[in-house]
Amino acid sequence: MRGIWKPVENQVTIVCIHLRISGRGRRGRLGEFVPPVNRTQQEIETARATALDDLKDPLARNANLADDQPATDLARSAGEGRENWIVMIGVCTHLGCVPLGQAGDYGGWFCPCHGSHYDTAGRVRKGPAPENLAIPNFAFVSDTVVRIG
Ligand code: FES
Repeated sequence: MRGIWKPVENQVTIVCIHLRISGRGRRGRLGEFVPPVNRTQQEIETARATALDDLKDPLARNANLADDQPATDLARSAGEGRENWIVMIGVCTHLGCVPLGQAGDYGGWFCPCHGSHYDTAGRVRKGPAPENLAIPNFAFVSDTVVRIG
């Protein structure tokens, strides 16, 4: 599956998307993909201030990192120097609904189907979702272009 978005201020261009349905039962449709999110400094700081012991799912769930990588804000972001960017599959890890952005008790994403709340790093904080929102394989081709898949 491929898709192209036009560049908009404070956004990056996605040159191609190859969504793969993983062996973990994730559902992948273009409509469920969340374009890279450019977080504010406040959103980053809020996520960084969260103790890992407070997380429901302690793993980063980042396909670009080792499976046992802890869910620090850095591990959930696009990495050093690009901590503002977060790239995720917008599929709730409970039963696959599409969470709403900038919503919920933690200012990140909220799934209206059964009430799962995700923080500004896409980590599940409350509700029935068992895992953090998945981060696909991606790479920044330049400062304004990201390849996903
Ligand atoms: S599908 Fe999101 S909370 Fe159930």
